[in-house]
Amino acid sequence: MHGLTTIILAAGEGKRMRSRQPKVLHELCGRPLISYSLRLARTVGDRIVLVVGPDADAVRAAAGDGVAIVEQRERLGTGHAVLQARGHCEGVDGPILVLPSDVPLLSAETIERLVGHHATTGAAATVLTAIVARPHGYGRVLRQGGRVKRIVEDRDATDDEKKVGEINTSVYCFDGRRLWSVLERVRPENDQGEYYLTDVIGLLGKAGGRIEAIAVTDPEEALGVNDRKQLAALAAIQRRRILDRHMLAGVTILDPATTYIDDTVTIGADTVVYPHVIVDVASEIGSDCVIGAGCHIRAMRIGDRVQLKPYCVMAESVIEDGAVLGPFCHLRPKVHVGPQAHIGNFVELKKTRMGRGSKANHLAYLGDATIGERVNVGAGAITCNYDGFSKHETKIGDDAFIGTNASLVAPITIGEGAYIGAGSTITKDVPPDALAVERNQQVAKDGWATRWRARHGAKRPGQTKKDG
Ligand code: UD1
Ligand code: CA
Repeated sequence: MHGLTTIILAAGEGKRMRSRQPKVLHELCGRPLISYSLRLARTVGDRIVLVVGPDADAVRAAAGDGVAIVEQRERLGTGHAVLQARGHCEGVDGPILVLPSDVPLLSAETIERLVGHHATTGAAATVLTAIVARPHGYGRVLRQGGRVKRIVEDRDATDDEKKVGEINTSVYCFDGRRLWSVLERVRPENDQGEYYLTDVIGLLGKAGGRIEAIAVTDPEEALGVNDRKQLAALAAIQRRRILDRHMLAGVTILDPATTYIDDTVTIGADTVVYPHVIVDVASEIGSDCVIGAGCHIRAMRIGDRVQLKPYCVMAESVIEDGAVLGPFCHLRPKVHVGPQAHIGNFVELKKTRMGRGSKANHLAYLGDATIGERVNVGAGAITCNYDGFSKHETKIGDDAFIGTNASLVAPITIGEGAYIGAGSTITKDVPPDALAVERNQQVAKDGWATRWRARHGAKRPGQTKKDG
């Protein structure tokens, strides 16, 4: 909305989280709490002033560009926090929106409704409230003759006041011309000895200002995160909303109850997600894919028509269109699986490029390797990339065939179309179209086993008496 200034309060210690990390950096479905308030402020308003606590470099970094940041050196309460933003609000005569940083499920529609109501009524302050079944812990909105009189905190409320089901969401719209003089008059006369922003409502009213309130239509929007139990409860709600968004956009989620998809993930239409899948950290998944049961997909870019069979674990890598992976494969960072490539069970890749149509179908380790197109990597093949001190590269040309249980000791280059015999330990480069075998001569000693068993008075177990 044009001319709207938003103050976001993020200096609270978050004591109830019992964490070394500031509360606003705790993640909800893959995004720090603070990013929800920032996204909301960017959607609805123009200017943003963020109030942070001392030693909050990480919070400052999370804020990104276009945000004015002020420090609240001593955490003396929500009213004191807003006061710190005053310097950035000089000359603001339009509305000032105040957002907490721990109420992440608020929608832009609700805030627009709040600011719209504030403008049409010409109020001194408009409070966003919620009618909830369990108001315990929240500030209660006290009305007289239907009009908001003041807000009382849970710990300061009388038994009767505690029965009030209308709570303060900590979201307010203030008249920028009337806020500051009243805020200065707030006194820390309460159970916590803090300067409460909530007191401004009563004071503005007493001074003859009009106080308005509107309630959220969906009480879930008003839920705050003060401890980790609430964080988990809100994550469950947000998770369901994310899944609903994907399902409405054409993604099949077979079991929403066991599917965890972060807020930052994108998925194309007609992709099917099986139960017990986790997709996080801004992964992108294309259309018409199948994501098998139990896959964990982190910071991945996956093309269209990719099939992940059950229990693939993968991170920070790319899979191109039509590739087939799993079950039970492991992609560590910086892997690039080309189109139509196949990565089978118990194959681990790290920092490796697999060309178009290449296959490593069973039991292999491929690290620091560049593998061409249509290469076949046999079961048990290993790139020996580490000498105890440094990592070395393996290059395998197009159409090469790496036999079962081959060990390729890097640095090494296998030419295009070359064959590596099964069980070979390859330490020298192999020219194109050559066969490299490194094996002892095979010997077969006729009758040796029969004589050996005879020395022990035994016969072959499957041998009948009639056979001799
Ligand atoms: C606050 C409200 C309460 C409301 C509830 C809704 C007050 C006094 N109480 O209570 O009426 O029902 O939110 O969720 O406002 N903060 C600072 N500096 C401080 C203290 C807090 O920046 O010195 C920030 C926090 O980071 C947080 C917000 O202000 O984002 C609210 O603080 P918090 O301590 O969580 O208040 P509640 O007890 O939840
Ligand atoms: Ca809170």
